[in-house]
Amino acid sequence: MQEHVFHSPLRYPGGKGGLADFVKAVIEANSLCDGDYVEVFAGGAGIAWALLFEEYVRRVHINDLSIPVMAFWRAVVGETEALCRLVQDTPVTMEVWSRQRAVQARLSEHSDLELAFSTFFLNRTNRSGILTGGVIGGKAQVGKWQLDARFNRPDLIRRIQRIARYSARIRLYNQDATHFVATVLPALPIRCLVYLDPPYFRKGQELYENHYQPSDHESLAQLIGSRVAQPWLVSYDAVPEIVALYASYPRLDYAISYSAQARYRGAEVLFHSKGLLVPCAWNPAAAKAGRTRATRFGAGVLEAFEAAGPSNNSLQATAPAAFTSVSLRSPSVRPAGVAPELNAGRRPTDVLP
Ligand SMILES: C[S@@+](CC[C@H](N)C(=O)[O-])C[C@H]1O[C@@H](n2cnc3c(N)ncnc32)[C@H](O)[C@@H]1O
Repeated sequence: MQEHVFHSPLRYPGGKGGLADFVKAVIEANSLCDGDYVEVFAGGAGIAWALLFEEYVRRVHINDLSIPVMAFWRAVVGETEALCRLVQDTPVTMEVWSRQRAVQARLSEHSDLELAFSTFFLNRTNRSGILTGGVIGGKAQVGKWQLDARFNRPDLIRRIQRIARYSARIRLYNQDATHFVATVLPALPIRCLVYLDPPYFRKGQELYENHYQPSDHESLAQLIGSRVAQPWLVSYDAVPEIVALYASYPRLDYAISYSAQARYRGAEVLFHSKGLLVPCAWNPAAAKAGRTRATRFGAGVLEAFEAAGPSNNSLQATAPAAFTSVSLRSPSVRPAGVAPELNAGRRPTDVLP
């Protein structure tokens, strides 16, 4: 069984850290190593940290419209020590929780660091990490789990410090996605992978402070098609409205389990720019059975792995996150000259048994 490694200190409903191995394979297959990587709807940015730590990319660009979320990332890279001191020294109690809630209600009255810590504290103590959600264990703090259940100080401080070590290679933005796509992306190099993970079409309203209306999804799809010159990936909940918007692009279907509010197993979909080489997905059920499959990466390299058990974050391992931990960069496991398979809109029925 392989555990997904969590690099992000933030828990995120719909967090995509579990897709990191898939994105690494895409970067390799398309000769994008040592280039730039962009998260337009970054949230916890789990993929970006994995790519930096494992030296897949030179620079990461992190954008999110949320003021609290970006205040947190600014503190991680710019006020690391002060932030870690707060994480270390602040008692995790209901009284502190109420104070941190009050900070979010009056953003402009607080310093960046106060806002950053409040965001982190509520993210780690609220159910599913939702800033405006209920506290773990309820206000009465009765029940199996209490508000400190996900507040492992040494581990979280380690995650913050590790990201901070890469500060010089991290660019932060706090812009609306459409503005970012229209103004920032054109100035970035072509050797760059752009990942967009917009709020879910169906559940976005319940999960994120900033959510999208159907017309926003439509404008974004048009903008991506007309303005993004670099290779791109877009992930969504698999709903007919979204599939119709991206009908002219290659698509890959997969399933993801997450625990935002109620436990929910969702069908997700990933679209990508034409010409991008993307390894094909496989059936999580086959992965459970421990089967391996041959791909043009080389037989057995993309070995399906057993589904991981419940993790401390929202994403559980399913395809296409289900790559092995085998380093795809290693020449010993990827024979030279073996090109990855181009995914041409495969469905679950296309996967190997
Ligand atoms: C699905 S989540 C991203 C999760 C992220 N991929 C991760 O792994 O943690 C969507 C994110 O988009 C942000 N967002 C919503 N509307 C936005 C907009 N108009 N521009 C930029 N970001 C936006 C939300 O604040 C939220 O963090």
